[in-house]
Amino acid sequence: MLGLQLATDARWAYLAEHNLAELLSDHAFCEHKAATNALTMIVHFPELTEMVEMLSQVAMEELEHFRQVHQLIAERGWRLGNDKKDHYVNELLKFVRKGINRETYLIDRLLFAAMIEARSCERFKLLANTIQDKALAEFYHQLMISEANHYTIFIKLAKKYATTIDVDHRWCEFLAFEKSVVEKYGNEPTMHG
Ligand SMILES: [Fe+2]
Ligand SMILES: [Fe+2]
Repeated sequence: MLGLQLATDARWAYLAEHNLAELLSDHAFCEHKAATNALTMIVHFPELTEMVEMLSQVAMEELEHFRQVHQLIAERGWRLGNDKKDHYVNELLKFVRKGINRETYLIDRLLFAAMIEARSCERFKLLANTIQDKALAEFYHQLMISEANHYTIFIKLAKKYATTIDVDHRWCEFLAFEKSVVEKYGNEPTMHG
């Protein structure tokens, strides 16, 4: 799915479903970070008009996801926990090349975002297929569709703005790197844990 080289083990979904308060709180912050990341990209590259338009839309959708997940937390009588570091995302961020040139940074940032969308999408699909709570399973199914669309947007933008970089080749490098990162995870009831 989406070129990912390692599927998430079903044991992660079991862990997530049985620690729902922790999962939802972490998930809410993942959506918050996705919105923030899209807005940050706009600050870094204000001159890329089509990207600014598309990422404004992505940011709004991510914030809406945050609102929806927060609502699910509140409905259950729980509260949003404290935001915690996302080690998986921080490891992926190290693969983004800085200081070479503007194009390299742009393309790597777009592929970094696409990578997180792809993995999140894969995990949402797994939750949609395994969670017993039908309403929650349907919610994750809808989010899976939305994140797949975001993945497509980031890849499309990378291809649009790349002039010297072979995006397909760089994406393959991202996929291989992501495999080496994600194989250390899958043991925590967090979205990328
Ligand atoms: Fe989202
Ligand atoms: Fe997304």
